[in-house]
Amino acid sequence: MKVDGTPYRTIWPAENGWAVMIIDQTRLPFAFVTRRLETVDDAARAIADMWVRGAPLIGATAACGMALAMHADPSDAALASAYTTLLATRPTAVNLRWALDEMRTLLAPLSANQRAEAAYSRAADIADEDVAICSAIGDHGKPLIESAWDKKGKSGPVNVLTHCNAGWLATVDWGTALAPVYKAHDAGIDVHVWVDETRPRNQGASLTAWELGRHGVPHTVIADNVGGHLMQHGMVDLCITGTDRTTASGDVCNKIGTYLKALAAHDTGVPFYVALPGPTIDWTLTDGLNHIPIEQRSADEVTRMTGRTDGGEIVTVTVTPDGSPAANYAFDVTPARLVTGLITERGVAPASADGLAQLYPEKQS
Ligand code: MRU
Repeated sequence: MKVDGTPYRTIWPAENGWAVMIIDQTRLPFAFVTRRLETVDDAARAIADMWVRGAPLIGATAACGMALAMHADPSDAALASAYTTLLATRPTAVNLRWALDEMRTLLAPLSANQRAEAAYSRAADIADEDVAICSAIGDHGKPLIESAWDKKGKSGPVNVLTHCNAGWLATVDWGTALAPVYKAHDAGIDVHVWVDETRPRNQGASLTAWELGRHGVPHTVIADNVGGHLMQHGMVDLCITGTDRTTASGDVCNKIGTYLKALAAHDTGVPFYVALPGPTIDWTLTDGLNHIPIEQRSADEVTRMTGRTDGGEIVTVTVTPDGSPAANYAFDVTPARLVTGLITERGVAPASADGLAQLYPEKQS
């Protein structure tokens, strides 16, 4: 997607060809800053500290981290160590493990002097594949927005509610949940997005609002608790969110608060779609609620907030009383029964074992 007229991906090779560039998402929306990753530790820090985030981008960055590791030292020991270091960065998004497994499976049988080149090539392919996958998610999701528009007699916008950031910043390009929105908007469909702020890290208010604004998509930022009210009053036509891990039975694990939106959508009859690339499916799990690891992050993210003063200074302030403990569960699981459909690169499926099996027959044993 474009930033001030310049096309960007969220991760790309540096000019020298072996280092990697990223957008530092912790600086958005107030500054557009790129960073250079030169080592596997840089890549691990970028993921753990959320300079990059979003399940597909975490996977793509991990793949690059393996390539950086092989550039420095292509030994078996370095391969094993890079895998372990990167896998430990964040626990919930399964794209991380998927990308690391892809890299290790490719690299382990190769001789040391073949590894770096093979690693860069596969990491680049993983990024390109993600772009193609997300574009296809957009193509399959766009008709859902179009038919909501037709249903309204094309009078007034289709109101889509989304949670967190599952736009192009969360992937290599296009996004998952927002890909159908971009494709619909670009096709002239009148679409407006309700953007949940997504406390505590505000990925909605900071990132989703920023990227929708840059692309010219009408949107409104709302506090996290507003969605239920909007749905009760017919002000949401459909919800589309992303997912960090989808079980083989269609449960989805996404940013904390997604479950509450799905409950409200279920109660009010608003369709609740989840957009995902194939690598987000964890085929080893069928019970999301009990088996997906839920990341718990620092309490500081709850007790403190960062923003810009009217004078332009970026400041962090404390918003809780001294001594009050805080808990920071970063994800929750929405059971398949609350999900209207899964929008994938292969089409829209019911959120069920059968639905996913129809789309991914090669994954059935
Ligand atoms: O903690 P984050 O910002 O990495 O969480 C991101 C999300 O929850 C996204 O909705 C999810 O990764 C889907 S991304 C296309």
